[in-house]
Amino acid sequence: MQKFPKIELISDQISNCTNCSLHKTRNHTVPGSGNYKAEILLIGEAPGANEDKEGIPFIGRAGKVLDELLNHINLSRKDIFITNMIKCRPPKNRDPFKEEIFECSQFIDMQIQYINPKVIITLGKFAFEKFFPDQTMSESRGLPHQWNQLTVFPVYHPAAALYNPNLRTKMLEDFEQIQQILNKLNTCKENHQMKFL
Ligand code: URA
Repeated sequence: MQKFPKIELISDQISNCTNCSLHKTRNHTVPGSGNYKAEILLIGEAPGANEDKEGIPFIGRAGKVLDELLNHINLSRKDIFITNMIKCRPPKNRDPFKEEIFECSQFIDMQIQYINPKVIITLGKFAFEKFFPDQTMSESRGLPHQWNQLTVFPVYHPAAALYNPNLRTKMLEDFEQIQQILNKLNTCKENHQMKFL
């Protein structure tokens, strides 16, 4: 995979992308935001209406939940990089199609390579399936997983807490694990590698 000298070049490529039909209905691409030197990369599903309007991820109701979860563990958007599996809004917020995820996957791959995080937090099933297509979210959430050289930590999508408030406690508990995972990784000799399971 090509190494890009600047994260902005990846964003430029995203802005110019016409690989799937979503480019016809988008107002803005939503490449991602935050600190590209962060140890933590969060990956959601797809932009919604607010994100499409502004070009910034997670600024709607799900974003508020996410900010609360980050705040709960003393993190802010400046401490993380956040992006989505697909960078354009699917009309009427429908689920992304497989072909759209496939066409967009080059961008998430470049972002992972460029940011080189210590831990990837997958928010919901679409991001989780990129790494573990044969596993289910219900069995895997809240458990750190090894993927290539990276640690992937699956959690529910923050929007799930909007529909099912009982999940909020589980999500808070899952987020509480993030700092422990990072601490463990930082004490490991081979920084990014650790056997969890
Ligand atoms: N949901 C997502 O998955 N991503 C966003 O950017 C907003 C809502």
